Amino acid sequence: DREHELQERPPVVTVMGHVDHGKTSLLDKIRSTRVTASEAGGITQHIGASVIDWNGRSIVFLDTPGHEAFTAMRARGAQVTDVAVLVVAANDGVMPQTIEAINHAKAANVPIVVAINKIDLPDVNPERVRTELTEHGLVAEEWGGDTMMVPVSAHTGEGLDKLLESILLQADIMELKANPNRAASGTIIEAQLDRGRGPVATVLVSRGTLRVGDVFLSGSVYGRVRALINDRGERVKEVGPSMPVEVLGFNQLPEAGDDFVILEDERQAKSIADARASRSRQSSESGSRG
Ligand code: GTP
Ligand code: NA
Ligand code: MG
Repeated sequence: DREHELQERPPVVTVMGHVDHGKTSLLDKIRSTRVTASEAGGITQHIGASVIDWNGRSIVFLDTPGHEAFTAMRARGAQVTDVAVLVVAANDGVMPQTIEAINHAKAANVPIVVAINKIDLPDVNPERVRTELTEHGLVAEEWGGDTMMVPVSAHTGEGLDKLLESILLQADIMELKANPNRAASGTIIEAQLDRGRGPVATVLVSRGTLRVGDVFLSGSVYGRVRALINDRGERVKEVGPSMPVEVLGFNQLPEAGDDFVILEDERQAKSIADARASRSRQSSESGSRG
């Protein structure tokens, strides 16, 4: 019975780390060298997440690096990240925001894969980073621990294959699965008001398959999916688990970190959305009186 079929799904990855340790450079390098040729010469749509196809498998990278996005999402109860990539510059070592990132990931129970970056610089020693991380509870596999630590360079690209492989190994350990054969549900990653297109949200589908025409509900916002646009800027008819996609058709701006669900009936979605909106109006009015 297809309704209960769990299938492997790609890992969703957030890149974290201290300021200037190379989070953006690393993502850019991975994207520019591993996004398929269909995009060559074209402009990548910025949708807040990118899908890297590698050795026949996919990895989804959330583009908003850093702890703020992660913490904001968690504050709303959303947990979209499966794996955190912690970037530590080899010349700088463990810094305050490195420690913060470790704490956030641990609090969220998200496994960490460490990218020891900038190993192209002269006189850097990845061993020093491994030692420093040990003091914060992350012990490298080579040293008998369970944290994969991969020396990389966002400039030369060295080690990036190994990093992607390590992320997939971590995903294998976690046995990430979801059922694509049901109505979609997931999380709002970003939302903006676009002049021409109205409210546009990037969502991440966690279960099921999201399709054009679906009736969705997120907080007090509802609508019917008018168009789906993938991370390559292509219009698609449907997207499955772990996949990020831009959704058009919301009546208002949904909130990043909120869940969305798909309902059968647009009137039902509207009435739930309206009830929620009036409840939140009431509570904000009583809040301002009190
Ligand atoms: P914030 O988003 O500001 O926290 O920084 P970030 O972590 O995204 O770092 P970013 O990618 O902006 O890189 C910071 C600086 O380090 C830039 O000058 C990069 O060119 C440089 N950098 C990043 N990766 C490498 C690397 O692998 N090797 C060398 N030599 N420099 C790098
Ligand atoms: Na920077
Ligand atoms: Mg950056």
